[in-house]
Amino acid sequence: MTSFAHVVLTGDRPTGPLHLGHLAGSLLRRIDLQNQFAQTLLVADLQALTDNAGRPAEVSENVLQVVADYLAVGIDPDRTTIALQSGLPALSELTVLYLNLVTVARLERNPTVKAEIELRGFARDIPSGFLCYPVSQAADITGFRGTLVPVGDDQLPMIEQSNEIVRRINRMAGREVLPEAKPILSTTTRLPGADGRKASKSLKNVVTLSASTDEIRAFVASMYTDPSHQRASDPGQVEGNVVFAYLDAFDDRREEVAELKSRYTRGGLGDVALKTRLVDVLEGVIAPIRERRAKVSADRRYLREILRDGTARARAVTSSVLKDVRAVFALRPLFD
Ligand code: TRP
Repeated sequence: MTSFAHVVLTGDRPTGPLHLGHLAGSLLRRIDLQNQFAQTLLVADLQALTDNAGRPAEVSENVLQVVADYLAVGIDPDRTTIALQSGLPALSELTVLYLNLVTVARLERNPTVKAEIELRGFARDIPSGFLCYPVSQAADITGFRGTLVPVGDDQLPMIEQSNEIVRRINRMAGREVLPEAKPILSTTTRLPGADGRKASKSLKNVVTLSASTDEIRAFVASMYTDPSHQRASDPGQVEGNVVFAYLDAFDDRREEVAELKSRYTRGGLGDVALKTRLVDVLEGVIAPIRERRAKVSADRRYLREILRDGTARARAVTSSVLKDVRAVFALRPLFD
């Protein structure tokens, strides 16, 4: 594959340590992509503040934690640019320009924003920065001329909205100033939280990539299976069963998992046996990550350096995009 064909751009809000849902949903794919294309990962601290303005110190503290998570799972800073959103003022300027192209009605229709407003119990007292974060995310994507965005399916409306802005800009300019972006979805379906609801740190139904063995055990023990599957001999449901969702995502022994599913469906396989297997599988996934993470997070200077270098590289790209977009709005530099 040609390495110049695509620009991969994606990001994470530094609101806490990354969890297994992130690993299956997008981190593994990014590790693949860094070998094929130019890739940037944005630590989206400004976006995190849109609904965490009350705890800025925590957001700031989590920035380096996310960098540590990236390195621990195998993101290679020599191949992937890791950049800090707030260190790229061009992205904020792009946001301000794009805000003129997006109506409040359109923002309120964004399904992801809608769902998040409900989850957080916001009504009309929603922070306006939060309502507008899809516009800032469009600045993130276009600020790198991103064409591929590896994300979970909840982010599809963001990419759609970004592409609408791209089309507006290109129409205004009468030529292609910015490329449209395509999502890359993970092959596994979105992992649920232990309780079967959306996986979310605030719902406390996830397990982090640096979880201890005991935390993994507690997480698996709390998993929702099939309430009508009381005895091992009872036939059970695989559909909607959280334990099987995680086995599907992380257990490489596909044939054995298929066999377990049919035994479970017929009756004769207990939840305890199934959960014991999952604990082992997850321990196998997390243990090496936990180890590398302990190593890299001990060296904050190194983490800061990675982020500083990545942000400096990113600044060159984002400034050049801003220059092009300013011209579309007939803004001319006064001093140069
Ligand atoms: N909104 C994304 C999330 O919550 C994070 C994000 C910020 C992002 N900027 C981005 C994703 C740009 C893709 C592209 O997961």
